[in-house]
Amino acid sequence: MMDVGRHPRIELMTFSEVESVTGYVGNFQVTVRKKARYVDASECTACAECSKVCPVAVPDEYQQGFSSRKAIYLPFPQAVPSAYILNMENCLGNNPIACGKCAEVCEKKCINYDDQDELVKIEVGVIITATGMQVYDPTEYDEYGYTRYENVITSMEFERLICAGGPTEGHFIRPSDRRAPQTIGFIQCVGSRSRDGRGNPYCSNICCMNTVKDTLLLCDHYPGIEAKVFYMDIRAFGKGFEDLYMRSKEEGVRYIRGIPGEVIENPDTRNLTLTVENTTTGRLEKHELEMIVLSQGVIPRQDGDSIRKLLTLSTTSDGFIMESHPKLKPVDAPTRGIYLAGCVESPKDVKDSVTQASAAAARASILLNAGKTKVEAITSQIDTDKCNYCGICAKVCPYNAILAPDRKAEKAPIIIQAACAGCGACAAECPQDAITMRHFTDEQMMAQIEAILEVEPHKHLLTFACNWCSYAGGDDAGTARLQYPTTCRLIRTMCSGRVDEKFVWHAFRLGAPIVLVSGCHFSDCHYISAVRWTQKRMDRMWNKLDKLGIRPERLRLEWISAAEGQKFAKVMREIEDAVKAVTTEEIEFTMKVLAEEEAKNKAKKEKRKAKAAAEVTA
Ligand code: FES
Repeated sequence: MMDVGRHPRIELMTFSEVESVTGYVGNFQVTVRKKARYVDASECTACAECSKVCPVAVPDEYQQGFSSRKAIYLPFPQAVPSAYILNMENCLGNNPIACGKCAEVCEKKCINYDDQDELVKIEVGVIITATGMQVYDPTEYDEYGYTRYENVITSMEFERLICAGGPTEGHFIRPSDRRAPQTIGFIQCVGSRSRDGRGNPYCSNICCMNTVKDTLLLCDHYPGIEAKVFYMDIRAFGKGFEDLYMRSKEEGVRYIRGIPGEVIENPDTRNLTLTVENTTTGRLEKHELEMIVLSQGVIPRQDGDSIRKLLTLSTTSDGFIMESHPKLKPVDAPTRGIYLAGCVESPKDVKDSVTQASAAAARASILLNAGKTKVEAITSQIDTDKCNYCGICAKVCPYNAILAPDRKAEKAPIIIQAACAGCGACAAECPQDAITMRHFTDEQMMAQIEAILEVEPHKHLLTFACNWCSYAGGDDAGTARLQYPTTCRLIRTMCSGRVDEKFVWHAFRLGAPIVLVSGCHFSDCHYISAVRWTQKRMDRMWNKLDKLGIRPERLRLEWISAAEGQKFAKVMREIEDAVKAVTTEEIEFTMKVLAEEEAKNKAKKEKRKAKAAAEVTA
């Protein structure tokens, strides 16, 4: 942080918040709110005189509430810049001045009660998102008594208590009587790997090794202390971690396999009785402990949604920001020019965060050094003559790559080619067919459908498969030599969001018994939220099929990932059976009904056109 603060080419904006981000790769316009700190950071020498005279004391957030701070304070000892900050919500001396003591004693005269937030606009080419994570609040695990027993603390609170810069200067004591405990227990996976509706189902990655480190610290500072760790699995992967775990065991730390069911406090001694089923011995055990540390899991930041919206990103089902590709582009966000570092993407330790941050910086510098960016070969194009300024394309674009039209000014939408990723959702949703995709044009798609259904259409399984998952799932099935019907025919689209309704109707009109649309699992779509439009469109089509008297089951939707070759083969086999169940009469009825419907729609369109032409002439 110091290095960053001193670096001549880095402008560090602390106590600031990003308000808005517009633009696209190479041309982002960012508005930052520099919050008023009421102390001139460039003048403050951190002499602490102001803090000494401040009469207000509130719990210190940095010290987890174990000590207090003043209304004017240094956020934490290593803060950069090393300058005080005045919290106006705590201060008495605002308008009208009721206190003003800090301003009186400040020799440098750097306290300004009238300081205001400032909005700063900056232009940047790329953005690295490293907004971090939060820790899980274990309150809902009531059986551990975190809210009832003072001597049950969290791992974050443990950090403050054992830290030399902490409220007790590194003397580890029980909060209830300020006495050094002799027996201490650690409960793992609090809020992680949980399937009972509390906490999160994922592994928080860092807690096992954090506890191993904590036990070693305790053994080092307090030889003879009795430490016990209650766990379901110890995950000590990573360089040197297994050695550390073994060292902790050699130091006498007991690792007991089992997650405790209950903690009860003895009101006289304030000691804690922990009940656990030891799953190694199969016995129910009770342990007397003087203190318990809850190894709390990691959760995404609670304001993560606003970050996601600001940068047009998407999240995985656990709430962390999704990367562009988990294996091939692990530090790129799906929106071009945005990179991820650290726990914003998933829970990780310092080493992994630094590795990812270095990779993100390297990826960003490739773009910055090139000075230009390559546009995808599959971006969308608009025929402005066909556009009726409805603006649907701008609404559906997951990348905000389309500037909305202005009907009054007769200004058609503009597609920013550098921002378009080529998902095709806009082309599929455009009611005027004014948008098409390079290399995935309507004509190309229709030609493929016609070629597949040219001969014996009733025998073919027509499948639209998204490039990243389902199509790759088909590849996986092939390379694994899995058997699936030879009548299966795939049409590749970049995303299932590209599958236009007219492709499906065309296939049915040509005699397709069943049409399958397949894409990535909902939260895995490589184009942020494009897959949501697939689902909406499918719902619309199923409704229409129902109304027309056609079995909606003949239009199928399946989410198949790249690793699910087995599922791909299974789905194809199932569909082959379903194809056999579709009768010739059913197919003929469908072809007839849809042909009639198409003719009706054509006639309506012609009528509308003629009317419009007549109005123009008049
Ligand atoms: Fe596969 Fe969107 S990329 S469904």
